Amino acid sequence: MIAIGIGANSRAHKDDFADVVAAIRGEIKGGDIVATFADAVFATFVKAAASRQSVAYRPIKLEALRDRSDDCLTRSERTLKRFGVATTYYDPLVGADIAQLFKPNTRAVFTEAPGSLSFEMQDIPAIAKAAHARDIVVLMDNTWATPLFFNSHGNGVDIAIDAGTKYLSGSSDLLLGLVSANERCWKDLRATFDTMAICAGPEDVFLALRGLRSMRVRLMHQQESGLAVARWLGQRPEVARVLHPALESDPGHAIWKRDFTGASSLFSIVLKPMPDAAAHAFVNALTLFGIGASWGGFESLAIPFDCTPFRTATKWAPGGPAIRFHIGLEDVGDLTADLEKGFAAMRRVEGYAADGV
Ligand SMILES: Cc1ncc(COP(=O)(O)O)c(C=O)c1O
Repeated sequence: MIAIGIGANSRAHKDDFADVVAAIRGEIKGGDIVATFADAVFATFVKAAASRQSVAYRPIKLEALRDRSDDCLTRSERTLKRFGVATTYYDPLVGADIAQLFKPNTRAVFTEAPGSLSFEMQDIPAIAKAAHARDIVVLMDNTWATPLFFNSHGNGVDIAIDAGTKYLSGSSDLLLGLVSANERCWKDLRATFDTMAICAGPEDVFLALRGLRSMRVRLMHQQESGLAVARWLGQRPEVARVLHPALESDPGHAIWKRDFTGASSLFSIVLKPMPDAAAHAFVNALTLFGIGASWGGFESLAIPFDCTPFRTATKWAPGGPAIRFHIGLEDVGDLTADLEKGFAAMRRVEGYAADGV
């Protein structure tokens, strides 16, 4: 049974929430509800740093590995540095070869599958096996799949972290993070949360509990709609590639099929070579899709992105502008009709055809 702890000001829905989270997380040692995803990530790293300090008895230099997928990591890296934690970024497709990157002071690997902009599928069991052989803790951002579609602990993750702001509520209206740990990590992690006095707000916990009860139904529906829109986009002459691991054509499909039991409704496309202005005109012409970074709610979203400025371990050169979509609960026919309008606006941009579509 999962053990749930919530801050003192959030007790009202604690027991109900614990029961529901336990039902979806499975048999693990402990879980906690924290104010934000960032709290969860930060506390897990502080825990990892602190747990070694007593052994080392000298200024600690903790080495953490992760794939760098967005610029919030640059901010995390700056903060972690103040705690003596250095960061090395790895190619998300590294798999078991991650062992070659381990240094004597490597303490944690922070994984995510798929990458939430570029959608590479990491081989979590292979990374976990290599890490555990060196007593290194494996963390995972499991927000994309949610515990319903990926059993992180069952696949070797020691500490699983979810942004509760997304599919959990389904309405983009709360600030919450979820973290759970196995036997090995739970005690220290729990102690770190207590020391840092991190707690979630009662209203957020209430909204999360309400959202959890319909999460499976929403996710099953959004999985189907997401795949339908992804397949539709894949047929378009303007689209070079669809980045969605549940599509048979995706390079990460075999790993997804082996390890995951479903897909959420977040994916990206790479357009054929064309000016960025054409991609922007496409997004601006959409009326059913909002422009937004935080996904998982009932509304569809579209946002252009470029990983170039924050990629270090690998080069981001997809060949054309990229757009990430989140598919909400709207009718698929309405969504594709809206996308048609976007493509019409794209074609009107000067220079669109000149780039060879
Ligand atoms: C994969 C993933 N994890 C975590 C987060 C953090 O979410 P929040 O800032 O809402 O806590 C995001 C934000 O969009 C995300 O895309």
